[in-house]
Amino acid sequence: MSTHTVYRFTSRNGFDGLQAFQEPIPVAGKYEVLVKVRSVALNYRDVAIANSTYPVPVKDLVIPCSDMAGEVVQVGELADGFSIGDRVISPVSHAMLYGPAKDHINTLGGLKDGVLREYIALPAHATIKLPKSSHSFAQWASLVTTGGTAWNSLYGLVPLKPGQTVLVLGTGGVSLTALILAKAAGATVIITSSSDDKLEHVKSKYGADYTINYNTHPNWGAEVQRITNGQGVDNVIEISGTGTIEKSIEAVAWGGIVSVIGFLTTVPKEEMPDVTLLTLLKGATLRAVLSGSKQQLEDAVAFMGSRELQMPVDKTFGFNRDEIIEALKYVESGKHIGKDIQRLGQECLFDDPGDDPQHLPFDFTQSFNTSRSRRPRNHLKPVLEQQGAFETTQGVLNTPERCPGARYQLNSQTHRYAQSMRSMKDSLVDMCRPVQLSSFYE
Ligand SMILES: NC(=O)c1ccc[n+]([C@@H]2O[C@H](COP(=O)([O-])OP(=O)(O)OC[C@H]3O[C@@H](n4cnc5c(N)ncnc54)[C@H](OP(=O)(O)O)[C@@H]3O)[C@@H](O)[C@H]2O)c1
Repeated sequence: MSTHTVYRFTSRNGFDGLQAFQEPIPVAGKYEVLVKVRSVALNYRDVAIANSTYPVPVKDLVIPCSDMAGEVVQVGELADGFSIGDRVISPVSHAMLYGPAKDHINTLGGLKDGVLREYIALPAHATIKLPKSSHSFAQWASLVTTGGTAWNSLYGLVPLKPGQTVLVLGTGGVSLTALILAKAAGATVIITSSSDDKLEHVKSKYGADYTINYNTHPNWGAEVQRITNGQGVDNVIEISGTGTIEKSIEAVAWGGIVSVIGFLTTVPKEEMPDVTLLTLLKGATLRAVLSGSKQQLEDAVAFMGSRELQMPVDKTFGFNRDEIIEALKYVESGKHIGKDIQRLGQECLFDDPGDDPQHLPFDFTQSFNTSRSRRPRNHLKPVLEQQGAFETTQGVLNTPERCPGARYQLNSQTHRYAQSMRSMKDSLVDMCRPVQLSSFYE
């Protein structure tokens, strides 16, 4: 029986509890599709689950993570509308297809097993086919939680209108996704951050209209009022929690919405603001947002795809245990890595080159990043070198443009070959077979 690598938390007192298991590859049921996972994106929630600080129950031995993008490799006989090779994602809860969340029970990577594995069988009704676009699997994976949540925040109650103003707190995944969606929808966006460098970056790269450093402007709620000439903002993407809620209400317009999303900061009970009175005095709506439904995620996918909005994937990691833990630590730290790389948006595991002809096929990349393929990698090295790839210090096989820190990169000749011939994929696959590089092709 064929097996695949599945990661589970054997304990949740930190990241050491993450362990790899070899388990049978699932088979697509009648109404299911079997998906080969190509990219997994991390959220702060995954860190909170590992540390047992997540405020919702989690199952024992959970397979973590909720966000993946992959490719259909098997279609159940009644899974209408899907074909082998379709690129897909699925929402964080397979039970939240439309309307509000009704429980926490079905969230992947929490009370239900998640996506940190090589294959997953998904119910066809909770699987979203991705449109043709330039987005990589990593970008699509990074849209799952943040896209659904941001879309729900901006459109779930009173739909955002062009010309309205949105305040997003911090430069994390949810906030940056909301920034990108709101800007593309014609809104004015104000963003806060602890870092001037990050603010500069989001201004130049994502077109934020106004930036506020919340450390140097501790009264940022008043600053938002100043920027908006006393109007306040129509929607606050409140990812931070009780530590910022008072200022978020200060920043919102009369009758506006504070979308309560996150729980990053807290205050002692005796310092808790009187949220009821503050909201009442503004005639505002304090609205909890629990991720997004499948329908909302589909809307976000359609918007992203048709407008070619590029998701902020900051850094990619391999799919072995050490690299996954490194990725979780990176999310936990929220710090810059290196001098000019900022932790903006989401981190993705085992990024793929997508189907862009200038990138090599993912399977090839993945085979360098799984613990199972450590040995075959050495066998393959001479073949690779013969083909013009050269070894660098870290990362994965990829083109220089795509992954400057790659372990293997293509020289310009091979790169041109890959660009001009989509059949590169097939020849590489053939090349790999004799050395049993990967059983994933089977
Ligand atoms: N309700 C839901 O469905 C839902 C969905 C997704 C996420 N969440 C929650 O939302 C929160 C954010 O998630 P994420 O994935 O976007 O996290 P993330 O990528 O880890 O981003 C966190 C960012 O928050 C910012 N931040 C921290 N403290 C802040 C403060 N006092 N004021 C303003 N910004 C602050 C920081 O930005 P700077 O570095 O720029 O300062 C940090 O980068 C988490 O609590 C997460 O669990 C909830």
